[in-house]
Amino acid sequence: MAEAAGGQASRDGVTGTLLVAVVLSLVCSVLVSGTAVLLKPKQQQNEADYRQRIILDVAGLSAPDGAAGDAFDRIEARMVDLATGEYVDSPGVDGFDPLAAASDPATGIAIPAALDIASIRRRAKYAPVYLVRDGETLEQIILPVYGSGLWSTMFGYLALENDGNTVRGLRFYQHAETPGLGDQVDKPAWRAQWSGKQLFDDAGTARIEVIRGTVAENSADSGYQVDGLAGATLTGRGVTNLVHYWVGEHGFGPYLETIRSEQQR
Ligand SMILES: Cc1cc2nc3c(=O)[nH]c(=O)nc-3n(C[C@H](O)[C@H](O)[C@H](O)COP(=O)(O)O)c2cc1C
Repeated sequence: MAEAAGGQASRDGVTGTLLVAVVLSLVCSVLVSGTAVLLKPKQQQNEADYRQRIILDVAGLSAPDGAAGDAFDRIEARMVDLATGEYVDSPGVDGFDPLAAASDPATGIAIPAALDIASIRRRAKYAPVYLVRDGETLEQIILPVYGSGLWSTMFGYLALENDGNTVRGLRFYQHAETPGLGDQVDKPAWRAQWSGKQLFDDAGTARIEVIRGTVAENSADSGYQVDGLAGATLTGRGVTNLVHYWVGEHGFGPYLETIRSEQQR
C-alpha cells in the first residue's frame, strides 16, 4: 500500500511532470518537423505551379478558369547571362533560386549603390526568361523582376512584346504591401493599364513610370505612364524603380538589346 502511494507521488512530483513535458514536446516537435519535411516538395510544387499561372496570366495565355493546363508548353524557359545578354545552358532554369544565387559570391554580384534603385543589394549573375513563340516567331518575352516596395520585396513578371519595349503586362506574385494601399498593384484595373505602355523613348531612356495621380490621356508622356496608387505613392515608386532596374543596363538591358537587334534582322 505504502509502495503504491510512493509510485503515485513520484509520478505527480516535479520529476514526473518534467519528464512527461519533455517527452510530449519531443514527440510533438518530431511530428511537426516530420510533417514539414514531408510537405516541403508539395509546397515547392504548388509555388512553382502558382508562378507558372502568373506567367501565363501576364502573357495573356491563361485559360478562363485560371488553370495552367498545357498552355505552359508554349513557353520556352531559357537562362540568360545578364552581363552579356546571351543565353547559357548552365545553370539550368529548373530549380534555379535567384535569391540563393544572389547571396552566393560564386553566382551572385553586389549591385553598386548608385545603380541599386530597386534596393536589392545583390543579384544573381544569371536570370531565367520565358519566351512565347508562335511557330518560329518570337511573340513575347517575360522577365522576372523584383525590388523593394514600401514594406516588402515585391516579386513579379514583366511581359514585353517582341520589340523589347512595349509592355504586355506586369504582375506580382509575392509581396507584403498593405491591404487597401500598396496591394492595389494586384487590382485587375490597375494591372490592365500596363498593356501597350512603352519602356523607353526613342533616345533609349527608360521613361516608364507609375505617376502620382491619374494619367492625362492626351499628354505626350501618357504612353510611358501608369496611374498612381491612391494613398500608396511609395509602393508605386518602388514599382517604377524595380522596373527601371531590371530593364536597365545592370539588369536585362544587354539581353533586351540582343532581342531588339535580332528582331531588326
Ligand atoms: C499603416 C500604414 C500602412 C501603409 N501602407 C502603405 C503601403 O503599403 N504602400 C504605400 O505606398 N504607402 C503606405 N502607407 C502610406 C505611406 O506612409 C505614405 O503616406 C504614402 O505612400 C504616400 O502616398 P500618397 O502621397 O499617395 O498619399 C501606409 C501608411 C500607414 C499608416
